[in-house]
Amino acid sequence: MPATTSAADDQAKRQAQAQVNPVQAQGNPGAPDLEAIARQGSRWKRMAVRIPTYIADVKENPAWLPMFVLARTLPGRRAHWLTAKRYSKPVTAARPSVFGDISAEAAAKSLKQDGIFAGLQIPPEIHGEIRSFAEETPCFGNFNRKLEFRAKDHAEAEKRFGRPLLSGHHFERCLDSPGVRTIQNDPLLIDIARHYLGAQARLITTRIWWSFPTKASEADRSLASLDKFHFDLDDWRMIKFFFNLVDVDERTGPHVFVKGSHNRRKVKHQCTLLVGHPADEVLDYYGKESAVTLTGKAGYGFVEDPFGFHMGTVPETRPRLMMEVGFGVSKPSRRRFHGEPILR
Ligand SMILES: [Fe+2]
Repeated sequence: MPATTSAADDQAKRQAQAQVNPVQAQGNPGAPDLEAIARQGSRWKRMAVRIPTYIADVKENPAWLPMFVLARTLPGRRAHWLTAKRYSKPVTAARPSVFGDISAEAAAKSLKQDGIFAGLQIPPEIHGEIRSFAEETPCFGNFNRKLEFRAKDHAEAEKRFGRPLLSGHHFERCLDSPGVRTIQNDPLLIDIARHYLGAQARLITTRIWWSFPTKASEADRSLASLDKFHFDLDDWRMIKFFFNLVDVDERTGPHVFVKGSHNRRKVKHQCTLLVGHPADEVLDYYGKESAVTLTGKAGYGFVEDPFGFHMGTVPETRPRLMMEVGFGVSKPSRRRFHGEPILR
């Protein structure tokens, strides 16, 4: 942990601290948690559990409602893309990027065509620091702030809390890591975001989290939303950077993205309240060859348009640690179903 932090960092952390989702803040270790419902609840239960958060969002920012209704449709999205302001990179480039000589224009072109650009790599000293930080800093299980434990104590924590702990989020604590702040503020990330989303693009979220191997049965897994492709409905236009912070192979719960699904969509998948759909239904439409599984060594990263179908998979062999940095174009809502800090 650094001895000092910048005023901007402190402000971001204070804001993040102040924005604890009331549902999380009232977390009761004995009650079914949001993650269990999200993964295993019925369709109606999954929708019902989010209604209080949706109502809070609309009260806080009425502009959220048209986005929530229309941004799931291609015509709605395309209309909003017309408002993208043209971005031209400043001639005087600021700091060098830790990612080296990568063209933001080429990355944005790949995002437009496929919905994804891969091949980013965090230098070892930075991803090593983030990993050490995540190992030493207590995280919160299943999005519940009352289930606090260190990743290395996962098995003991499951016994102590009497339930499977599928994930461990660091929430706003992640901003105490110098490496996390370096990556979220890297000039390449905002450059790619502005080339793709337009000049209005801004940093919205940063998070790091563990996914732990689960004892869930095959039946549980097929019920779980992790076996379903979904799209994110957080903004009209967004991109998310993801970085593996441990080596990720086929059995470490890799992220999967369906190429081209960000700009082509079945009507059935637009006119629905649900963002998640069964994997076979999605792959029948786009073709199995469109699904890209993002395995890679620690530090490997990629950026995607999360309107495209994607899913996390369950690690089978060892815990997975990931980092996400999201950029959008609207004022962020305080909705924090995933518990990430919101930066303004
Ligand atoms: Fe997602």
